[in-house]
Amino acid sequence: MSLTGQSRLAGVIGWPVSHSRSPRLHGFWLDELGIDGAYVPLAVPPDRLGDALKGLPALGFRGANMTVPYKTAALDACDSLDPAARAIGAVNTIVVGEDGMLAGMNTDAMGFLANLDQESGFRAAGKNAVVLGAGGAARAIAWALADAGAARVTVVNRTPERAEVLAADLGGPLTARPWTALADSLAGADLLVNATSLGMQGKPPLDVDLSPLGADAVVNDIVYTPLKTELLRQARGRGLTVVDGLGMLLHQAVPGFERWFGVTPKVTPALRSFVLEDLTA
Ligand code: ATR
Repeated sequence: MSLTGQSRLAGVIGWPVSHSRSPRLHGFWLDELGIDGAYVPLAVPPDRLGDALKGLPALGFRGANMTVPYKTAALDACDSLDPAARAIGAVNTIVVGEDGMLAGMNTDAMGFLANLDQESGFRAAGKNAVVLGAGGAARAIAWALADAGAARVTVVNRTPERAEVLAADLGGPLTARPWTALADSLAGADLLVNATSLGMQGKPPLDVDLSPLGADAVVNDIVYTPLKTELLRQARGRGLTVVDGLGMLLHQAVPGFERWFGVTPKVTPALRSFVLEDLTA
C-alpha cells in the first residue's frame, strides 16, 4: 500500500531495534486490512529517548511500542498510565491522544490472557496457577491472572527474594514459593506458565517434573524460540493441553494496532505462519 498525506503512523522504539518482530507483525495487518498507514522501527539512543517521545505528537505519530531497554523508562515519560502499566511497572504501548498527551499501556497481560483463551479456552477466574520466573514477563502474567480473578497464583523463582518482592508488590492471590516447593505447588494447579528464559535457544532446558499436575491442566511456555520447547514436549507427552509462546507476542499487539489504526486485527493461522517464517529464517 502506498502512503498518502493522511497515512496513520506508528512504530517501535528500542535500542537496538532490529530484533523487534513488531514491524513485520503490524505490517501484515496493515496489508491485510488495506490500511493507509505505516509501522516503522525507530532506533533511539538512550540520551534521545525523552526527545523522541515528546516528538511523537509533533510528527503526527498515533503512538508507538516500547521495547528493550525502554519499557520502564517510558513510565515517567507518559502523561497517564493504564492500571496494567502502573501495576506491572512497564509500558509497552503508547497512544498519542487527540490533545497530544501520551497514554502508557501494558498490553502483555491482556495478550497473555487472550492467547491462553484462544488456544486452550482457559479462563483464570477461580483457578489455581503456578508461574515460574520473577522478571518482567512473569510480573505481567501474574498480574493478569490475579486481575482476571484467579483464586491462587504461586510464583516460583530460582532467586526466591525476587518472587517474594513480586508477590508482595502485587498482593491479592499471589504467593511466593521457593523452587524446592515446586512439586507441591503443582499438585492441584490448573495452569503452569514458564515465564523464565529457560528453554530459549542457547539456554538450558526447563527441567520440571510435571507428574503432580492433574490431567486437565494447561501448560503455557512463553518462550517462542524455539516454539516447541522441551517443557511443551513433555506436557504433550503426558496428554496435557499446551499453549506455545508465539501467541502472546501476537495478541499483545492487538490493542495498540486497534487504537492507532482504528480497526481490531485478528490473530489467525496465516499471521502465525508469517511471523514464524521470520523466526525460523
Ligand atoms: P524478563 O524481564 O524478560 O522476564 P529477566 O528479568 O531476565 O527477564 O528474568 C528471567 C527469569 O528467568 C528470571 O526469573 C530468572 O530467574 P532469577 O530471578 O533467579 O535470575 C529466570 N532464569 C534465567 N536463567 C535461569 C536458570 N538458569 N535457572 C532458573 N531460572 C532462570
